[in-house]
Amino acid sequence: MIPKSFIQDLLNRLDIVDVIERYVPLKKSGANYAACCPFHNEKSPSFTVSQSKQFYHCFGCGAHGTAISFVMEHAGMGFIDAVEELSRSIGVEVPRETPIPGQVQHKVAPDLYELMQAATRYYREQLKQSPRAIAYLKQRGLSGEVAARFGIGYAPEAWQNLTGITASYQDASLVDTGMVIEGDSGKRYDRFRDRIMFPIINARGQVIGFGGRILDSGEPKYLNSPETVLFEKGHELYGLFQAQKAIRAHQQVVVVEGYMDVVALAQHGVEYAVATLGTATTPFHVQKLLRLAEQVVFCFDGDAAGQRAAWRALENSLPHLVDGKRIGFLFLPKEHDPDSYIREHGTEAFEQLLHDSLPLSGYLLRELSSKVDLRTQEGRSILLEQAKPLLMAISAPAMALLIRKEVAALAGITQLELEALYGVKAVGAQPRKAMQKASRPAVSNFRFLLRCLLYQPDLARELPEELLVDGPEVEAILELRSWLISQQGEVSSAALIQYFQGTAHETLMATEQAEIMQWGETFDVAAEFQGILSKLREILRKKKFDEFNHEMAGKSVNTLNEQERALYLRLSKPG
Ligand code: GTP
Ligand code: MN
Repeated sequence: MIPKSFIQDLLNRLDIVDVIERYVPLKKSGANYAACCPFHNEKSPSFTVSQSKQFYHCFGCGAHGTAISFVMEHAGMGFIDAVEELSRSIGVEVPRETPIPGQVQHKVAPDLYELMQAATRYYREQLKQSPRAIAYLKQRGLSGEVAARFGIGYAPEAWQNLTGITASYQDASLVDTGMVIEGDSGKRYDRFRDRIMFPIINARGQVIGFGGRILDSGEPKYLNSPETVLFEKGHELYGLFQAQKAIRAHQQVVVVEGYMDVVALAQHGVEYAVATLGTATTPFHVQKLLRLAEQVVFCFDGDAAGQRAAWRALENSLPHLVDGKRIGFLFLPKEHDPDSYIREHGTEAFEQLLHDSLPLSGYLLRELSSKVDLRTQEGRSILLEQAKPLLMAISAPAMALLIRKEVAALAGITQLELEALYGVKAVGAQPRKAMQKASRPAVSNFRFLLRCLLYQPDLARELPEELLVDGPEVEAILELRSWLISQQGEVSSAALIQYFQGTAHETLMATEQAEIMQWGETFDVAAEFQGILSKLREILRKKKFDEFNHEMAGKSVNTLNEQERALYLRLSKPG
C-alpha cells in the first residue's frame, strides 16, 4: 500500500504543467494553460490546465483531474503505476506501508524504455569496435566527445545483432519498439544493420527511437524507427534533450532538417539546435519551442525541398505565434546545409546568419507578394485573397494587427478597409469576456462556498458546521471539511480533487473545479469566503428568528423571560 500522505506530498512536488507537457504541448492562455484535448477530438482547445491549482479540466468532454489522473488516463496506467511513474520522473522513491506477507509480486511487463536503453548501450559498444564506423564519423568531423553527447553508436552488419540484449529474440518488446522486424514467414531480423545509430531521446532523457544512417552511399540513406507506443514523430524533436540547457541560456533555438546538422552544429558550439524527424514542422513543435525560447529560427536547406519545408513551418506557426516572441527563417545558400555551412564558414558566420534571419512577417509578405503583380488591380486582389487565410490564422493580437497593416499597405488599401473585407473585429473589442460575464448564472451560496474551498481548501478549517444546513452541496462540503480537519498540514486543491476521485461527489467537484479555473490569480478568495460566511450566518439568523417567533406566537415581547428576551434581541437584528 502507498501511504495516503505520500500522494499529497507527490502532488505538491509535481508540476502538472510539466507532467502534461510530456504528452501534450500546452499554450499559456490567461491564467491557465490550454491545448486541444487529448481525450477527445477537437479543433479548438478546450482542455485547460491550472498551474496554480494543479489540475486540468476539459470544457469540451469533461475530462478532469490531477497529474496522477492525467497519467492514468493518458497512458492507460493503473493508479499505482501512475504514482510510481510520476515519482520516478522527479527522482522520488515511493514508500510502502507494511507489505502483506506472502503477497505475490505481479510480474511487470518488460520495460520498453529499458530495452531501448540496452540497445543504445549495445550500439555504442559496437561503435568502439568498428574502425570503419569510427573513421566515417571522424571524416565527418565529429569528436568522440560529441558522439558521446548524442549517444551515437553503430549497428553491425549481422541480421540478429539484438539477440544479446533481451532474454529471447522472440520477445514481443523487440517488435513493439520497432527494433526488430517480423517478416511474413514469421522470421525476425534487426531493422538496423550496418548503420550509424542516432538515438532519439524524449524530454525525460529516455531513448524512444533511432535514426540509422548508411555509412557509404546507398538507399535509403536514413532509416528511422517506426511510430511506436514510445515514439510519435510529430511530437518529438531530435536533439531537444541535449539542447534544453543551451536553449534556455541563449533564449534561442534553431530548427534544422537533419540529424547530422544538429550534431555538427553542436560540434561547432551551437548547442541549441534541434531537428524534426523526417516530418514537417508540426504545430506541436512550434508550441513546444515557443515556450522554451524567445526566438525560434527555422533553418532549412537552400534547395526546393527546403523552401517547401519552410512554408509548411510558417503555416503551422501562425496559430501559435506569441506577441513578443520572434520566429525567424534562415535560408542557406543552395549548395549548403547547416552542417556543411558551419564546417566551411565557422560558428561566427553561422550565428551571424541566425541573427540576420528573416522575420516571419517579412517572409510571409515576401512570399505573398512574389507570386503576384502588385502593379495591377488583379494582382492586388489576388494578394488580398491569398493573404486572408494566413492572416486570419494568427491569434497573437499585436502580430496580427501589424501584419494586417502591412498587407493593407501592399494592396494599397487602408487597414480599416482590409479589416472590413476580412470581417475582422476592431482591435480593443473583447466580446468573449463580456459574454462570459453576462451569461454566468447566479450560483447558490453553497456552490459558491464549495468553490472557495476547492480554491483554497484550508479555509474549511474556519467553517462552522452549524452553517451547513440544507442544500445538495452540503454533504460534499461536510465530507470535505471532516477530511481536511483530519489532515495535518496544508492541503492543496489537487490533493482534494484526488481525494474525491471515484467517490459519489466526483462529478460535483469536477463541475466546480471547472468554474474556479476561470477565476483570475487576483481573486481574493479569503474576502469572498468571509463574504459568503456572513451571508450564511444571516440566513441562519433569519431562520432562527422565524422559528423563535413561531414558538413565541402570540406572546408580546414584554411577557418574555430574561433568557427569551436575550435571544430575541440577538436574533432580531442582522450582523
Ligand atoms: P547527411 O547526408 O548525413 O548530412 O544527412 P543530413 O542529416 O544532412 O540529412 P538530409 O538533409 O539528407 O535529410 C534530412 C533528414 O531527412 C534526415 O536527418 C532524416 O531524418 C530524413 N531523411 C533523409 N533521407 C532519408 C531517407 O532516405 N529515408 C528517411 N526515412 N528519412 C530520410
Ligand atoms: Mn547533411
